[in-house]
Amino acid sequence: MEIWTVKHLLEWTTDFFKKKGIEMPRLDAEILLSAAMKIKRIELYTNFAAEPTETQRSLFREFVKRHGMGEPVAYLVGFKEFYSITFNVDRNVLIPRPETELLVLETLDILKTFANDLSPAVCDVGTGSGAIAVAIAKNRPQSVKQTPIIAVDISLEAIRIAESNAVLNGVENQIEFRCSDLFAEVRETFDVVVCNLPYVSRSEYETLPNHIKDFEPQLALLAGVTGTEVIERFTVQLSERLKTGGYVLLECSPMIAQSVAAFFTGWNTVRIIKDNAGNQRLVLAVKN
Ligand SMILES: C[S@@+](CC[C@H](N)C(=O)[O-])C[C@H]1O[C@@H](n2cnc3c(N)ncnc32)[C@H](O)[C@@H]1O
Repeated sequence: MEIWTVKHLLEWTTDFFKKKGIEMPRLDAEILLSAAMKIKRIELYTNFAAEPTETQRSLFREFVKRHGMGEPVAYLVGFKEFYSITFNVDRNVLIPRPETELLVLETLDILKTFANDLSPAVCDVGTGSGAIAVAIAKNRPQSVKQTPIIAVDISLEAIRIAESNAVLNGVENQIEFRCSDLFAEVRETFDVVVCNLPYVSRSEYETLPNHIKDFEPQLALLAGVTGTEVIERFTVQLSERLKTGGYVLLECSPMIAQSVAAFFTGWNTVRIIKDNAGNQRLVLAVKN
């Protein structure tokens, strides 16, 4: 009879995921097995010879089967790491992407320039899981922590997840969440507005892999025929919500970065920022 140790299970599953064309087969196997065993991933390595219980193996088998059919690991285990922080996720929210960490980094750099001023007011539009707002709240300089960040999303389900993530990470007193179509429920003005709104065009959406299209919320991805529709509506409302000298930082795809930058013609310092892969990923603009 075969003995299913941790080591054996990981090897078998990695091989199975490889054959399925899964991008990170070993990492996914480790995340799923540690979740099924309710231990930290690192602990798998000190337990290579251990034999998971039948209950743990049966949960792991279920995870492996579903991931093999395309269901993302983050939805199966219910969490995702972003900016070295753990976030609850479910199918109501986009799984936070590594490229969005650049938006957080750039925003934190901007906030440092306010260190000697009164606390700058920050707004995150399309907060989803709360990834950006929570990462900023946790990492912004102590001197600029007084003003709560306002984080909005059109989806009430997303707002509930985002609130749970603020609590999970101990920043619930630093963020006010609101259900709002862009700025419809926002009357304040801000020094810094950040957003990662839907920016996928209809034709691009059709080409997305099934593990995205079949599982992640369309509302979080698809913007319309050109991909700029939601961002364009956002930029029209933005002028009223941003203070003079205030910053806006938007995430977008390289395909629409130039069009997004063009929405800010006449603003100060319109700049496109590339991500680590060299793709045009962010647009930064400063209001006159
Ligand atoms: C690309 S996801 C980004 C989620 C999160 N900020 C992140 O970076 O992981 C876009 C988010 O915008 C929200 N959204 C879409 N249209 C919106 C609108 N008109 N007003 C507010 N939020 C909107 C979606 O519900 C979704 O949560």
